[in-house]
Amino acid sequence: MTTVFATGVLAGRRALITGGGTGICRGIALAFAAAGCDVAISSRRAEHLDPTVAELAALGVRACAVVGDVRKPDDVDAVIATTVSTLGGLDILVNGAAGNFVARAEDLSPNGFGTVVDIDLKGTFNVSRAALPHLRASGRGVVLNISATLQLLGTIGQSHAAAAKAGIDSLTRTLAVEWGGYGIRVNGVAPGPVDGTEGVRRLVSAEARQVIAAQCPLGRMATIEEIADASMFLCSDAARFVTGVTLVVDGGLWLRSSSTLGI
Ligand code: HXC
Repeated sequence: MTTVFATGVLAGRRALITGGGTGICRGIALAFAAAGCDVAISSRRAEHLDPTVAELAALGVRACAVVGDVRKPDDVDAVIATTVSTLGGLDILVNGAAGNFVARAEDLSPNGFGTVVDIDLKGTFNVSRAALPHLRASGRGVVLNISATLQLLGTIGQSHAAAAKAGIDSLTRTLAVEWGGYGIRVNGVAPGPVDGTEGVRRLVSAEARQVIAAQCPLGRMATIEEIADASMFLCSDAARFVTGVTLVVDGGLWLRSSSTLGI
């Protein structure tokens, strides 16, 4: 995992990263650990966590894996309790657990729409709410919500995920205002398509990947490391006066997505 940050940027911090066993959030977990942060990762499935927690521990930090579903408040309470008892507290929460699939709204059942909203939006609320007392006790608490760019456009087949991510962006702003007085910063990072992730493998066709590369002003998809570096910035003291912001990290892709002039 390569990063532009000096080692020790997050030394002494303790982070919980939901969805941290795979994809972008695994990359964030590894980058944070390489920066000296103790890290807990959670997921619904232990098999998604075990290989990553071994990689984290090999970086010399305290690391733990906690199985739990962000949709279930009892699970969430247990995840927070295990994290705090294992790491000794909580300074950083990354809300990364997400679910997605491609389906047009007309083919989506109420439960299909609701499932993604439950995981992404309500899960972000559930975990943030349960983490609050510990983030407050930290005195330098940070929440980072993983957003997207789908909701900035009329993304076909993504009514559920786009609505959920729009809700997350709103939550980022509200919690930043409500919790600023507790010394807690709340921000988001909004990746476009990221190479090597399950989301892109499952949701983006080979043809669409070529279109993305051709359309993107910076000429390619993001790497996981680039999203991890943006996340590190927002969770570190470098962003100590930044709150309520969702930082788009997509090489300018979404700005270019409406080419109505055909140029
Ligand atoms: C239509 C679907 C569907 C599909 C599921 N459903 N897949 N509807 N098209 N392809 C419907 C089901 O029919 C059901 O509704 C409801 O959704 C719940 O499905 P379950 O399988 O029971 O849910 P669950 O087991 O909880 O799984 C959640 C999931 C699943 C979101 C549906 O895909 C999942 O867990 N995925 C793994 C996590 C993941 O996707 N990570 C990548 C996120 S990528 P009914 O009415 O039949 O009961 C990301 C960014 C993407 O977030 C950015 C890309 C550029």
